[in-house]
Amino acid sequence: MDRDRTIELKIKRQDGPGQKSYWQSFQVAWHPAMNVISALMAIQRNPVAASGAAVAPVVWECACLEEVCGSCTMIVDGRVRQACSAMIDHIVPPDGHKRAIVLEPMTKFPVVRDLVVDRSRMFEDLKRVRAWVHLDGSHALGAGPRQSQDNQEQAYPLSRCMTCGCCLEACPQVSASSSFVGPAALSQVRLFNLHPSGKMHAGERLDSVMGAGGVEECGKAQNCVEVCPKEIPLVDSIAAVGRDATKRMFLGWLLG
Ligand code: SF4
Ligand code: SF4
Ligand code: FES
Repeated sequence: MDRDRTIELKIKRQDGPGQKSYWQSFQVAWHPAMNVISALMAIQRNPVAASGAAVAPVVWECACLEEVCGSCTMIVDGRVRQACSAMIDHIVPPDGHKRAIVLEPMTKFPVVRDLVVDRSRMFEDLKRVRAWVHLDGSHALGAGPRQSQDNQEQAYPLSRCMTCGCCLEACPQVSASSSFVGPAALSQVRLFNLHPSGKMHAGERLDSVMGAGGVEECGKAQNCVEVCPKEIPLVDSIAAVGRDATKRMFLGWLLG
């Protein structure tokens, strides 16, 4: 094991919203079980670029450090993923060709600074599709309807979404100029419409994705499902929501 090994990181930086981006390289000392976050922490402790110049520390986000919160999502060597589970030795094996690891912020969200982006559009879309179970007041309501084993098995994979943004980053239909709600929120429509109490508001959720920017704007490229770190069956969710939306539309026509 080469304890004198150094790792080179090439980072796309931006000093603030709307500012011009630029590249900066850093060398950090390797240590066992190092991931991209621990490499960024080393730069934070000693913010000196590979050129020898003292620079402002690189800014990034993280919280759980176990691929649960989604806050550390960025583009690592061209692939959108969580920095906390991106192990340095997997990206640049010790016996492999020496090269820099490239870090960039996601491109489908506004950059706040360096590797931090503003994922508000995802949270706004969760509000748009009413991704919750309504409670009528805070008084004791008694037991809700029972959830069958089959229903739980369908719902559990969908409940693993951490709003990380990988699927929006990969989706060709999502852009700064599009209002497409995106695969994560559509999958949450399916999750809450499956729920025995949540399904009481299934119609409202479907209405929220039936107009402009709704489920019909999915181009079915399936990039989303390829990149989801939680292996959520996004394409199945989009198809299920699309079917339910179509049924609701026909029913609306029939009933006038
Ligand atoms: S299947 Fe739909 S939501 Fe998924 S990446 Fe393609 S266009 Fe986007
Ligand atoms: S569906 Fe998957 S990729 Fe998309 S936000 Fe949720 S966890 Fe991330
Ligand atoms: S820090 Fe939470 S997913 Fe990486």
